[in-house]
Amino acid sequence: MVITLLENHYLYLQSYMQLNTTVPWGRSLQEYQDMFLLRESELQSSILACADGPASFNTEARKQGAKVTSVDPLYQFTAEEIKTRINVVAEEVIGQVKAHQDDFFWTAFANPEALYQQRMRSMQLFLDDYAMPASSPFYISAQLPELPFANKQFDLALCSHFLFLYSEHFDAQFHLDSMHELCRVASQVRVYPLVGLDNTPSPHLGLIVKELSRQGHEVKQQTVDYQFQKGATQMLVVNTAP
Ligand SMILES: C[S@@+](CC[C@H](N)C(=O)[O-])C[C@H]1O[C@@H](n2cnc3c(N)ncnc32)[C@H](O)[C@@H]1O
Repeated sequence: MVITLLENHYLYLQSYMQLNTTVPWGRSLQEYQDMFLLRESELQSSILACADGPASFNTEARKQGAKVTSVDPLYQFTAEEIKTRINVVAEEVIGQVKAHQDDFFWTAFANPEALYQQRMRSMQLFLDDYAMPASSPFYISAQLPELPFANKQFDLALCSHFLFLYSEHFDAQFHLDSMHELCRVASQVRVYPLVGLDNTPSPHLGLIVKELSRQGHEVKQQTVDYQFQKGATQMLVVNTAP
């Protein structure tokens, strides 16, 4: 099952991804650093960015020497197709954000217009990189809960604004299967945020923490530097069992 969305408020569910129902929307390297408390040294490790969409994290981090692979079902589409879709939906996204302004802290971004400008900058960086044939190994089209990677292929797996955020639309089993898969392919997994679209803690979080701990993974919740969606103050960190 595939899910796509506007900033954090708008949602489409499909059993397979169709471009005309997706809402590409992506964040920057700085936001990933703040959401996941990424240290410079960690940027030198082998990173999987899962559900990475049109974020500029991959291209910006690679320019600093990082080894990042992004995975998202969106990558079945060409840069031109994704760009066309961004241009169709961007105004609508910001309209939704304006209609729900009280759900966000306006500190990192002064107002919805500043958010719009930043998101468009990030997505253009993504598109410029994604369009280059040499970048294709860094953008893999696949989707949770099954990933086409070897056991412990990555030092670190990051998942921003997908798991837990869409708790109402993806059930506990999907979350559990997805977390198992991320733990299979990476030595450490970080997921942000831990709240749903209603800004309250995901109902699946307790089960995930209990099950992963029972299987010998070390699980903790950590407060992060990033603050935008109200209530989204923590990430999940899983040091995975060998
Ligand atoms: C809100 S966007 C987040 C993009 C990026 N991580 C960021 O924070 O800017 C959610 C992403 O999840 C992707 N997605 C949807 N279903 C997925 C699945 N089953 N597995 C992995 N990614 C999925 C969508 O294509 C979309 O790009």
